[in-house]
Amino acid sequence: MYQELKDNAELQFPTYVRHERVKTWVAEMVALCKPAAIHWCEGSEEEYDALNDKLVENGTFIRLNPELRPNSFLARSDPSDVARVEDRTYICSLNKNDAGPTNNWMNPKEMHDTLDGLFDGAMRGRTMYVIPFSMGPLGSHISYAGIEITDSAYVVVNMRLMTRMTKEVYDVLGENGDFVPCIHTVGMPLEPGQEDIPWPCNPDVKYIVHFPEERSIWSYGSGYGGNALLGKKCLALRIASVIGRDEGWLAEHMLILGVESPEGQKTYVAAAFPSACGKTNFAMLIPPEAMGDWKVTTIGDDIAWIKPGPDGRLYAINPEAGYFGVAPGTSYETNPNAMKSIQRDTIFTNVALTPEGDVWWEGMSDPPAKAIDWHGNEWTPDSDKPAAHPNARFTVHASLNPAIDPEWENPDGVPIKAIMFGGRRSTVVPLVYQPFNWTFGVYAGATMGSEMTAAAFGNIGKVRRDPLAMLPFIGYHMASYFNHWLNVGRQINDPPRIFNVNWFRKDENGKFIWPGFADNMRVLKWVVERANGQRSAVESPLGYMPRYEDLDWTGLDFSEEQFQELMAVDRDLWLQEILSHEELFIKLYDRLPNEFLAMRELLLSNLWRTGEHWDVGVGGYNS
Ligand code: GTP
Ligand code: SPV
Ligand code: MN
Repeated sequence: MYQELKDNAELQFPTYVRHERVKTWVAEMVALCKPAAIHWCEGSEEEYDALNDKLVENGTFIRLNPELRPNSFLARSDPSDVARVEDRTYICSLNKNDAGPTNNWMNPKEMHDTLDGLFDGAMRGRTMYVIPFSMGPLGSHISYAGIEITDSAYVVVNMRLMTRMTKEVYDVLGENGDFVPCIHTVGMPLEPGQEDIPWPCNPDVKYIVHFPEERSIWSYGSGYGGNALLGKKCLALRIASVIGRDEGWLAEHMLILGVESPEGQKTYVAAAFPSACGKTNFAMLIPPEAMGDWKVTTIGDDIAWIKPGPDGRLYAINPEAGYFGVAPGTSYETNPNAMKSIQRDTIFTNVALTPEGDVWWEGMSDPPAKAIDWHGNEWTPDSDKPAAHPNARFTVHASLNPAIDPEWENPDGVPIKAIMFGGRRSTVVPLVYQPFNWTFGVYAGATMGSEMTAAAFGNIGKVRRDPLAMLPFIGYHMASYFNHWLNVGRQINDPPRIFNVNWFRKDENGKFIWPGFADNMRVLKWVVERANGQRSAVESPLGYMPRYEDLDWTGLDFSEEQFQELMAVDRDLWLQEILSHEELFIKLYDRLPNEFLAMRELLLSNLWRTGEHWDVGVGGYNS
């Protein structure tokens, strides 16, 4: 339903909206933002097509060649608006210390005053869209409804792929159901007669704000990804982590996949890797043929909600309905399932355009002789800048993934047998180890470090601690979150086994030692068999490790020496590593779990017991 809001026009509500608080809230936001029109989104295909046409007309979208990439579009963002803005992201809890030292904080009242000022008239000249959406299958006991108000049609069409966006959400809400109000503006009102630009945003002022007690989200000034698609990081991670803390479950930056062995045994695994560290690739992995009839299927590639089930196991759902994946590096070699998923019905942002009207990015294939880069400029392979932005993304509905798991929409979730943590580390951290138990595993996840990529704000390449891959996404005090993890472990009899992996270790020439991608199946197979109690291992200073003969090498030429280089634990490097754990602990001192100090001591004692240089060739106790 669409209504123009000429001076003092009385706001009309669709008949299917029967929820008083929704009506009052939308009316308040109309009064504050002063849009020229309001569009109540219903989620239909006709609506989606019409909005895409409008985006093409406005110059935001370029329709790709329908023969090569049917029903697909390219958007180029403003060069200042290409990734999440962590330094502009706030957790405005009543109490500053509830946000903790890893989050930006402002007094909620002060922040509301600031936002009221910024949002006043922010949608002048624009249409306000009201998007009803569900994170998780509609009406399921684990799902949460949200309503996002936005002045960006680009956000609407992306939300339709990434969430369950439908007017049926209002039926689920009835007259007083719970929902998370999310308000977003690009922060660029249009004066009468002023022409719109392809990517409106506010280059100077951005705020991504969460009020955990109110469970509301306000986003100002950006149109990109996690800043603007508020169901994703804002609701499904930052707000959901707070709800999970209160209700006894976990909202995590994790992919979820299913592994089926040649014997037909199915095991579900969740894995937390920081942004741009390989979740989408791993979630869609195709095992090397030589390994036999192993199958990997995708439940989700970015977010997991994990809850204790009635049988005392942990069950996970993917609250999202689509993928917002990193394009550069995605190819038929590295991720064939992603390439097949994005053949049609896909939105591309900040990739290059070929002369044929198709898309291209670094690492996809041999470069085209010429292209238009993500700035809209002529580009050739000789150019000294990349054609696609390193954080260029594709948005596509999950149902187009050929490897989608049949259970991906099961409202009860899937039972998780193993949890993996893994950062991007060119040194120090071995390919794989299994911390000795849940507590050690939580410690390993909590002290995870990763070299920063384009998705993170800071010095590219520098190691930063990214506890459980949640540094930019936790909605409360990081150390309380560690305690919450320990608590969840206490409440289940047979918690998932925890593993730590690192695909990114490099040799002295700066080359990746591990082939990665499909060959990660070799590690995953060990993880799954280990979690199912089907594999022995040796005790390393860090945890259990596979020996060379414990991994399946069929079809891969990888020597025992190379493996030992990948698995080596160097005492001096680990002492440095533990010092950096200590830096994190000092920062989180007031709420740090006691267990962590004991874990650190045990780790040190293990390192001193096993000598200066430990590798699986040296061996250890079998277990
Ligand atoms: P977000 O969507 O930002 O949360 O990230 P993600 O974890 O889903 O990132 P994604 O899977 O898109 O990771 C992309 C980057 O990881 C690309 O640079 C890939 O080349 C690289 N990558 C993924 N898997 C591997 C691997 O096994 N080995 C190596 N060396 N690189 C990998
Ligand atoms: C990430 O940065 O972890 C993402 C992309 O998944 S965004 O949704 O933009 O946050
Ligand atoms: Mn992510």
